[in-house]
Amino acid sequence: MNINTQATTPFEGQKPGTSGLRKKVKVFQQPGYLENFVQSVFDSIGDFQGQTLVVGGDGRFFNPEAIQIIINMAAANGFARVLVGQNGILSTPAASCVIRKYGAFGGLILSASHNPAGPDEDFGIKYNIANGGPAPEKITDAIYAKTENINAYKTLATPIHVDLSQQAISQVAEMSVEVIDSVSDYAELMQSLFDFDAIRTLLASDFRMCFDAMHAVTGPYAKVILQDMLGASTDSLINCTPLEDFGGGHPDPNLTYAKELVDILYGEHAPDFGAASDGDGDRNMILGKHFFVTPSDSLAILAANAKTAPAYKAGIAGIARSMPTSGAADRVADALGLDCYETPTGWKFFGNLMDSDKVTLCGEESFGTGSNHVREKDGLWAVLFWLNILAVRGQSVENIVTEHWKKFGRNYYSRHDYEAVPTDAANQVMEHVRGQFKSLQGSILAGRKIQTCDDFSYTDPVDQSVSNNQGIRILFEDGSRIIFRLSGTGTQGATIRLYLESYEGDVSKQGMDAQDALADLIIASESISKLQHFTNRSKPTVIT
Ligand code: G1P
Ligand code: ZN
Repeated sequence: MNINTQATTPFEGQKPGTSGLRKKVKVFQQPGYLENFVQSVFDSIGDFQGQTLVVGGDGRFFNPEAIQIIINMAAANGFARVLVGQNGILSTPAASCVIRKYGAFGGLILSASHNPAGPDEDFGIKYNIANGGPAPEKITDAIYAKTENINAYKTLATPIHVDLSQQAISQVAEMSVEVIDSVSDYAELMQSLFDFDAIRTLLASDFRMCFDAMHAVTGPYAKVILQDMLGASTDSLINCTPLEDFGGGHPDPNLTYAKELVDILYGEHAPDFGAASDGDGDRNMILGKHFFVTPSDSLAILAANAKTAPAYKAGIAGIARSMPTSGAADRVADALGLDCYETPTGWKFFGNLMDSDKVTLCGEESFGTGSNHVREKDGLWAVLFWLNILAVRGQSVENIVTEHWKKFGRNYYSRHDYEAVPTDAANQVMEHVRGQFKSLQGSILAGRKIQTCDDFSYTDPVDQSVSNNQGIRILFEDGSRIIFRLSGTGTQGATIRLYLESYEGDVSKQGMDAQDALADLIIASESISKLQHFTNRSKPTVIT
């Protein structure tokens, strides 16, 4: 056993959230850097002697090297077994699935989600607990504290290299390493949830689809599930070979970054259905022919149509959405007599609700949707759920969405991001709005009466933990909302997210462009925040 002493602090002041540690590859390549993080994890998660650890990643550059380091350290630290995806591949939801299925103690997932990959780009690592979900704050805080004074890590004196290219079991010191099929456990789970026969029939008809894996981790999953199991044609899958630099792209499935897919779905010979997933496979974007489904609407529509899928046939227990996600799901929950929980931003807040069976479906406006089948959001799951609904209902994506609006009303919705603004300016904006809470209360803005303004605070109904300052909410009596929130994931300066929402029950007014429908709220948000003034910007960096 090797005790290696040196003193870099992996986080260098960056406190990790549940998305773990994300840094440039070059930073991770420094001697001892990754090792320090991994040892800090092992020192913070309790007694795992004799237990199983799951390891896998999104296939980005440095993935294979990192896995060898982790395997050797896991052996030196006393794990009995490591399950690792073949060629080091496990999508984030597949890792969650494998952790749960094999009763692992936890897992290390190697990914920086949708951030670009390659020798000069990002790498990342995060720890998931036994329920398959991101480590809660208690553990990430402990990991952080550990990294501040770590001075040694344990690994094998003579490193052993494991061949990750073949499914096989080998021995690393006292520990066994099983290289497992990256896809099969996850594929089996998907097959147990959805009506594969109905989807197969749909795909054998003249229905056409296009799935874009963006050269990231979902390629192999899409090939097995969509193509081999469900019969999708070869040309309906694009960018499905995972590349260590994601082909130089930015695999974030939204209207800006998934441009190739958007162009196809808005093109002349557009297929009926389009979808994309991100770097590590947890996000999704859903498109119809010349039609975009907002993630907030997608959650509401999945909930309203849940009974079409075998797994949710008996009904769902409840729905949870993050605070900035539109209230479309609330209206479905209301109609179904279900509870709808409003949580702070971040998937970790859904964990307790799912573990205690309070909710079945969860979603975020940031292209994240999922259910209690795993404890991560799940991109391909959302794609299969949509295909299941399309197969059962036999209507187009656009028809399903507009019928939904007709029944429940439409929640016009948009998010405006101001990225990389100076931190001081971002704080000024937030303070400026806070300073007006009293005077705004009950006043008229954009022709609507303000009901209340506050800093969103959340008490977890299961463990009673309280999370304060989760975003500023301006709530109007007619259900409209303006929300200001600072991003927790940005890497440069601060990112201000402005979320806008208004409700339209009148069917004749549901066909507008969202930016037009929200125009008066957009103007009002500037008047109360002076956002563009303080940040010296004339428009958002990204509009979704
Ligand atoms: C963003 C999204 C949030 C998501 C997170 C991790 O966080 O807004 O919904 O959970 O990425 O994927 P933010 O940068 O807003 O803190
Ligand atoms: Zn992701």
